[in-house]
Amino acid sequence: MSGLFLDTGNLEEIKKYHAMGIIRGVTTNPTILLKDGVTGGMEGIQKRTKDIARLINPLPLSVEVTTNDPDGMIEQAVSFSKWASNINVKITIHGPNGELDNLEVIHELENKHDIRVNVTAMMSAQQCFLAAMAGATYVSLFGGRVNNMGYNAIGEIQKLRDLLDNFGLKAKIIIGSTREILNILEWLHAGAHIVTATPNLIEGMIVHPYSKETVQMFLRDGAKVIEELS
Ligand code: E4P
Repeated sequence: MSGLFLDTGNLEEIKKYHAMGIIRGVTTNPTILLKDGVTGGMEGIQKRTKDIARLINPLPLSVEVTTNDPDGMIEQAVSFSKWASNINVKITIHGPNGELDNLEVIHELENKHDIRVNVTAMMSAQQCFLAAMAGATYVSLFGGRVNNMGYNAIGEIQKLRDLLDNFGLKAKIIIGSTREILNILEWLHAGAHIVTATPNLIEGMIVHPYSKETVQMFLRDGAKVIEELS
């Protein structure tokens, strides 16, 4: 599944854009779930996750673990993956202080537990390349955050896509942290398999002031033609 993913935990927004047939998956993270009103601890996460997964099935849904303890990450990933068959588990590239346990966890989840992993919070092609080498199904580069640091995400995307193709690595590139409408097509054009964007950005891709004016003209003149005929 490539193209556009929706970066939200808002069920109504997912329903709306899914019905249009323009999204190919959904990504969430703990910050998004908090913002989108998920309460009730792990049960709350489970309920919202199952609701989204059911709604978009068979499209993929990424859900992130809430711990960085290696055993805890594996335990949560195994449990999340049982909630629905289209769930992928998000694991960050390393721990909050650069701890190196996560790649081993990612490798084990993909190869021993047969769980699809989305490696997240990455800011460079080199991080994504290593996550892909470890066996990740998705590698998530945070394009907006890269740009905010003064680098251009496009260079990283082009380099990464070339490397994945040249080395025959299965990982699909997701570019997230999308800040501007312009980013969506420019990142897909640069070689991203997927860009994940918030609902407001997708609405902005669709609606154009000049299209509005044109549609208004058609409806106004259509009404006049119909009046003349009757
Ligand atoms: C992607 O999968 C992430 O959930 C998201 O795009 C992170 O973006 P942020 O920089 O807005 O936190």
